[in-house]
Amino acid sequence: MKHLLTLEQLSKEEILEILNLADQLKFQRNNNIEHHLLKGKTLGMVFQKSSTRTRVSFEVGMYELGGYALFLSSRDLQIGRGEPVEDTARVLSRYLDGIMIRTYKQSEVEDLAKYGSIPVINALTDYCHPCQVLADLMTIREFKGGFDGLKATFIGDGFNMANSIIVGCLKLGMRVSIASPKGYEICEHIQEFAKQYPGMFEMTNDPMVAAKGADVVFTDVWASMGEEQEAEVRRKAFEGKYQVNEELMAVCNEGCMVQHCLPAHRGEEITADVFEAHANEIFEEAENRLHAQKAVMVKLMKD
Ligand code: CP
Ligand code: NVA
Repeated sequence: MKHLLTLEQLSKEEILEILNLADQLKFQRNNNIEHHLLKGKTLGMVFQKSSTRTRVSFEVGMYELGGYALFLSSRDLQIGRGEPVEDTARVLSRYLDGIMIRTYKQSEVEDLAKYGSIPVINALTDYCHPCQVLADLMTIREFKGGFDGLKATFIGDGFNMANSIIVGCLKLGMRVSIASPKGYEICEHIQEFAKQYPGMFEMTNDPMVAAKGADVVFTDVWASMGEEQEAEVRRKAFEGKYQVNEELMAVCNEGCMVQHCLPAHRGEEITADVFEAHANEIFEEAENRLHAQKAVMVKLMKD
């Protein structure tokens, strides 16, 4: 593993290795055991979109590993004024030991990896959010004890979160169902990926069908970053149906978990009641971003 660009590129074994290391790092942190595995290493964090969790967890994570993280907003970088990614990649590779990037196009992340000579970590594109789903998988294992026989359901937009959830959960042996409104389904590429798992994947427009017998329910916002101008059109397509609420939870298996990458819009993709009833799982998921990303950085950047 040279980069973390998508979850497709990781084997099941590589994902499990990351989760095992993340569990170990969480234990060490909770027990005040020093774990300066990246002493003296530097991570550049390029942000072309907003962030709370990703920015803070990467920065704190790098500090806890004995390294240093630089916040690089695209507003300040020359990349924001049109400097090509190929040049930025070659320059940053001469200063840093790793780059984390949050941007729009997946191709920009791929180009950074192609032209640079240091590990690149995808911290969200329009296509996927692998760091988030590693934390989600860690959380599922923590609450459920494993993955075999479990069913994961995603309710909502067939966008970055849906894509990574489908890939990550199928790879680890879970069944996956997704319900999206017409016109907001997952892309062909992910549908093709899912064909490698016959009988394990279901795609529908009906949330109640998708949620039946679920052990973990995921959702995400109706309008993602960069889609703000579509918010009203999207609201009309999602409202009244594509919501994680008590009625939907009633058809899931007993003890079904809820996961939300956050930020959450109560009253839209999830009701306040369901959110609060599952707040423990959702905020553990947010915490696990720290541990999972520390594991990714160690795997990629440790000598
Ligand atoms: N879940 C997530 O990536 O959160 P941020 O946008 O706050 O980083
Ligand atoms: N789908 C959301 C995820 C935020 C973490 C977005 O891209 O804005």
